[in-house]
Amino acid sequence: MGDRSKIRAMELTDLERILELEKENFATPWHKEHFEYELEENPFSKLFVVELDKKIIAYYGIWVTFEECQITTIAVDEEYKGKGYGNKMMEHLIHVAKEEFCERISLEVRVSNERAQNLYRKYGFETISTRRGYYEDNHEDAYVMMKGI
Ligand SMILES: CC(C)(COP(=O)(O)OP(=O)(O)OC[C@H]1O[C@@H](n2cnc3c(N)ncnc32)[C@H](O)[C@@H]1OP(=O)(O)O)[C@@H](O)C(=O)NCCC(=O)NCCS
Repeated sequence: MGDRSKIRAMELTDLERILELEKENFATPWHKEHFEYELEENPFSKLFVVELDKKIIAYYGIWVTFEECQITTIAVDEEYKGKGYGNKMMEHLIHVAKEEFCERISLEVRVSNERAQNLYRKYGFETISTRRGYYEDNHEDAYVMMKGI
């Protein structure tokens, strides 16, 4: 059976579900107001959702600031992790970054988050620096990873 999921732009009406996924996935989740700002006001922000049979199972966000594309968030519903939706979003994201004429894609990731780092390395991201104590909740370090395109 083929992949029935599709990727589309996030909308305000998705936020109830997105906030659920956000809380499941992140120690310091974004609030509703933050998503509203990203969707309605931040001209650099793009957010997408993966929908499977009308259910949102994953989402990601980027900021496109001229030559740079920054990944702001990416998460998959617990039940659907490890099934290729991270790959699907990364391929979509790289395509969008190319369409926007970005020269590179960057992100921050917890040093303990090997699963996400594996995903990023698979698509050619390399660690370029470490931000000491970057995360507010436990003062964990972040790796800054980057990929040229
Ligand atoms: C990181 C995340 C987005 C990956 O999504 P996913 O749908 O589970 O990933 P996929 O099934 O598409 O796998 C993609 C790659 O990720 C890596 N990966 C996935 N699951 C993994 C695991 N359990 N252990 C190690 N690496 C793993 C592999 O490199 C994999 O490549 P493969 O398909 O060739 O095996 C997802 O696990 C998630 O939502 N994590 C919580 C939120 C988070 O940490 N976001 C990143 C913040 S920087």
